[in-house]
Amino acid sequence: MKKTKLFLDQSLKNLMTVGTFTRSSSFLCKEIVRQIEFTPGQVILELGAGDGVITKYLLDKMAPDARLIAFEVNPVFCEELRRLEDHRLTVVDQDAARMHEILAALNISTVQHVVSAIPFVIFPETVALHIIQAAFDHLEPSGKFVQVHYSLLAKKLYDKIFGSVRIRFVPFNIPPAFLLIMQKASVPAPVQALAQ
Ligand SMILES: C[S@@+](CC[C@H](N)C(=O)[O-])C[C@H]1O[C@@H](n2cnc3c(N)ncnc32)[C@H](O)[C@@H]1O
Repeated sequence: MKKTKLFLDQSLKNLMTVGTFTRSSSFLCKEIVRQIEFTPGQVILELGAGDGVITKYLLDKMAPDARLIAFEVNPVFCEELRRLEDHRLTVVDQDAARMHEILAALNISTVQHVVSAIPFVIFPETVALHIIQAAFDHLEPSGKFVQVHYSLLAKKLYDKIFGSVRIRFVPFNIPPAFLLIMQKASVPAPVQALAQ
């Protein structure tokens, strides 16, 4: 089945988890990989990998000894991801909310970057915050979290956890998309004196 048809079929059946009818465009994927520094031995986390359209762009840029851990809840998409047959890719067919325990089982404590297309806008805020906070906790200082959204409704979630958000608009995508780009501070914010 053609990729676009497969994606549409799955989104019609699972709109509340897929969140859109079309996979990310090549313009959007290129803009995502442009945000990331690719270095030897790094671990990148992908959340909501779908049928692997962004995954492929990431793997194309990643070093031979790097690792990509891709979370995806849809079993049909997980099959597509496994077809990529790349030794650097680990497909995790689980909810990203289980990230802490799954990364621990994989013996991974920190990751260099996170790329996500999970549609947090349609999630309960507590669930969205739980997943974003878990990714933040695993991100190494200076690491980037690059998130795809189709509106800026969820920007406040990232403001809350990362403190600041950079935005790039990508018009050549259906629907037009925003990339929200967050970077974990390399130095912890100074602790404020509670009492003078
Ligand atoms: C907007 S689609 C993006 C798919 C693909 N990355 C792309 O850019 O075309 C969102 C994806 O997130 C997955 N997803 C939704 N909730 C998830 C969760 N809690 N954990 C892991 N994946 C999830 C959906 O199944 C869907 O494949």
